[in-house]
Formats: sequence, C-alpha cells, structure tokens
Amino acid sequence: MPDDPTRPDSPRSLAREPEPYPFVPYRPERLSPERMRARAEEFYARMDQRRSVRHFSADPVPRALIELAIRTASTAPSGAHRQPWTFVAVSDPGIKREIRLAAEAEERETYARRMSDEWREALRPLGTDASKPYLELVPWIVVAFEQRHGVDDDGGKIKHFYVKESVGLACGLFIAAVHTMGLVTLTHTPSPMGFLTKILGRPEHERPFILFPVGYPAADARVPDLQRKSLDEVSAWDPPRGDAARDR
Ligand SMILES: Cc1cc2nc3c(=O)[nH]c(=O)nc-3n(C[C@H](O)[C@H](O)[C@H](O)COP(=O)(O)O)c2cc1C
Repeated sequence: MPDDPTRPDSPRSLAREPEPYPFVPYRPERLSPERMRARAEEFYARMDQRRSVRHFSADPVPRALIELAIRTASTAPSGAHRQPWTFVAVSDPGIKREIRLAAEAEERETYARRMSDEWREALRPLGTDASKPYLELVPWIVVAFEQRHGVDDDGGKIKHFYVKESVGLACGLFIAAVHTMGLVTLTHTPSPMGFLTKILGRPEHERPFILFPVGYPAADARVPDLQRKSLDEVSAWDPPRGDAARDR
C-alpha cells in the first residue's frame, strides 16, 4: 500500500512530526562579579576595535580559520532552530574574478543611476565607489545566503521562520569571529546580488544576504575615522510606560 502521510503510523507522517528534543542540563560556570566585569570589558574593548576594511592584503589565510568563523556563525540562535543559512566560501581565483566583475557592474549601475540623492549623501563621507579590486585580491570571499525555506529528503518544503533576523545574527557572529582571530572583513552588499546565486550555483530557494571578503588588511589600509553613538543614544532604561511618556 502506498504510504499515506495522513495515517498516524505512516513513516512520512512520523518523519514530519519531530520528537521533542531530550532535555539536558545546562550549567555554564557562574563567574565572580569581578571576572564578569573583566571579561565584559575585554570583549567590548575588542569588539570596539572592529572596523569594516576595504583595503586587503593578498596574504593567504588557512581554510581552517574560515571553517571556524562559519562554525561560530552557525551557533547563532534561529527561528525554531531552522538555521536558515548557507555560507559559501570561495578561494578560487577565477570565481573571485567573476564575482568582482559582476559586483562592479552592479555597483557602477547603482552609483550612476539607482542611488537616491539621500543615499549618495549618506555614503559620501565613507568615500566608497564602484571599484572593488579587493574582491579579486583577497584570499577568501564568504557569501552568506538566506534559505527562504528548507528542503526535506523528498524535495518538500520545510518552513523557515524569522529568516532575515536569524541570518543577520549569524552574520554578526561571523564578523565577530573573523575580528577575534585578527583578520578583517567588510559587510558588503553589491545589490542586486542575484549574480552570486548564479556564479556560485546556489538553488533557487537561497538568496544572497551578505558578501564578506576576508583576509588581512593591506599594510597601508585606512578606515574612516567615524564615531559610534554613545550609550545614551542607543539605549533607554526603565522607560516610563507609553501613556506616561506621551503625557510628559
Ligand atoms: C547591511 C550592511 C550593508 C553594507 N554594505 C556595504 C557595502 O556594500 N559596501 C561597503 O563598502 N560597506 C558596506 N557596509 C559597511 C558599512 O558602511 C560600515 O559597517 C559602517 O560604515 C560602519 O563602519 P564599521 O563597520 O567600520 O564600524 C554595510 C554594512 C551593513 C551593516
């Protein structure tokens, strides 16, 4: 008899209804207040040193480090633990060249025609333009793809939840991992990025999310001297409830 997935004992029905996870103890070490503070300060100081870099060296970077950055990214929380991301790592010079040429073609069009005056004004202080030579020079390009849905063994769709939020969090951890190991990257979005799906042969349900060139900074690398918002500007503490705030 053909498998009827609506029957409660059918193998496909069983496959579609996952068992609850077994629960295991979770007891991370409880640190003293002093160590907590010291670790938090150290981590903040390290992350505050991170910068987006647009001048790379061609020095090689071992694949093992890129693997570790991707593993770290993949520890991110995700909607219903679907982990809706694929990180595609490229070191092949021919593919990097293809990516550079396609990215520059899109960026030329963006800078010449697609960009609003407001956007152009916002970018002016950063001094960026359509030229992306580092995409060819850098030892690795890692492209994060968002999976709009998953695919099961029978080719059926698996629903994903909060895809952009989840992939954004994974990318944040990827950036933090790259920075922590002493390498640099750029959060790059040469949009529209459909060319990456084609060049990298990704399936139709995956969309390019962010392109990360990863490597060492060039010896003469420079970054814009920008300031970050203060704690006051980015946070609110025990704010009055909505009505009270409106009446103030
Ligand atoms: C979603 C996103 C897209 C970005 N796209 C680009 C890009 O296409 N090209 C670029 O040069 N920088 C890009 N950036 C980098 C920002 O310009 C940079 O993060 C910002 O100026 C702050 O600098 P910092 O990363 O050194 O702190 C992007 C950043 C984000 C978060």
